[in-house]
Amino acid sequence: MTIAAALEREHRDIDNCLEAFRGDPGTAADVLRTGVAALRRHIYLEEAFLFPPLRTAGLEMPVQVMLREHGQIWQLMDRALAALDAGQVDPAVAAVDELMALLERHNTKEEPVIYPHADTDLLPEQADQLDLFIGMGGMPEGWVCEYA
Ligand SMILES: [Fe+2]
Ligand SMILES: [Fe+2]
Repeated sequence: MTIAAALEREHRDIDNCLEAFRGDPGTAADVLRTGVAALRRHIYLEEAFLFPPLRTAGLEMPVQVMLREHGQIWQLMDRALAALDAGQVDPAVAAVDELMALLERHNTKEEPVIYPHADTDLLPEQADQLDLFIGMGGMPEGWVCEYA
């Protein structure tokens, strides 16, 4: 599988978690927590392993757009989980609705503009490192995205 395809699959898996929560918000809190954890890890791997070499390769402008949207996505995840922790389902649903709309806009840019470069613009060792992380890497404890 190419790096682009693996990252697009992560997008789909995360979307599926959010949609599952949306379909049954009263009892699907765990699936939302799973999706949020996967989305934080996904943003980490992009900001730690994918974006730095792409900035070097000349994609600074689109990477900046992605970083700013990650900051907004991060705040919506925090809002959704805070509502969940407080037992407030409706505010959690509202935050997840905003999150899903933003992810739609984010991913429809990221997939055609950024991801094709993941398979062409990384050095072999950078691609290997990213590939390894996709398979078995964990996000460092307490990490937050650049514009959180
Ligand atoms: Fe992203
Ligand atoms: Fe992504």
